[in-house]
Amino acid sequence: MPTLLITGANRGIGLELTKRYAADGWTIIATCREPQSAKALKDVRGVSIEALEVTDYAAVDALAQKYQGTAIDLLLNNAGIYGHRDGALTVSDFNTYLQVLQVNSVAPMKLALAFLPHLKAAKGGAKIATISSRMGSIAAGGGGAYAYRASKAAINAGMHNLALDLKSSSISCITLHPGWVKTDMGGAGADIDVATSGAGLKKVIDGLTLKDTGKFFNYDGSEIPW
Ligand SMILES: NC(=O)c1ccc[n+]([C@@H]2O[C@H](COP(=O)([O-])OP(=O)(O)OC[C@H]3O[C@@H](n4cnc5c(N)ncnc54)[C@H](OP(=O)(O)O)[C@@H]3O)[C@@H](O)[C@H]2O)c1
Repeated sequence: MPTLLITGANRGIGLELTKRYAADGWTIIATCREPQSAKALKDVRGVSIEALEVTDYAAVDALAQKYQGTAIDLLLNNAGIYGHRDGALTVSDFNTYLQVLQVNSVAPMKLALAFLPHLKAAKGGAKIATISSRMGSIAAGGGGAYAYRASKAAINAGMHNLALDLKSSSISCITLHPGWVKTDMGGAGADIDVATSGAGLKKVIDGLTLKDTGKFFNYDGSEIPW
């Protein structure tokens, strides 16, 4: 069975995707910051749970070392934060701004590069899928939410670049918008539930081939302009 490595697997979209891949029989390395309190994740059968704060780059390297020799078919960078809910022309805390960039933009690149040997070892070509946001699309417009928008635009650029560099290694690399989803981040007033988002995201990821590497997809399979 193929192997999935996923971040932020303990709640929200990450938990939903973990459940769906587990139901398909995948071998799963599910990471979260506090495994001891990840009750819903522990209830998912057959998942190896690993503690990982994604901005602890030494811990990312240690995890890659622990799984040295294990082929990883899919790296799912899901962990993310919104930061302050700043409006137009306000950034209330630039330390938080930096933290949002660390979690949303830098950590997914670190994971991709630390686990490159594992991805290259996957038979038939591996995939890197990173949960971004439509809020990172410059073409889609916006205003406000400076840190979050900038962080998702940065990871879109990073993953697009990686897609170009990894194509010759048969590794497909995309970013995805999960929809506006009813999670702790999206809030109760969001458009769709996690099941709808998770089903859509998984369908897009499962259908991904090298032909579509470097693209930015909505959870419904449509493409989002940069
Ligand atoms: N919900 C939406 O409407 C929406 C829309 C567009 C994009 N997204 C993106 O979708 C992804 C998942 O969001 P969600 O809605 O499921 O959010 P969520 O319910 O708030 O869950 C966020 C997850 O990320 C983890 N995380 C945060 N910072 C971390 C860190 N430094 N190290 C490791 N894990 C960390 C959290 O772990 P803890 O439990 O330890 O905090 C949690 O598992 C994010 O990348 C988000 O930006 C969401």
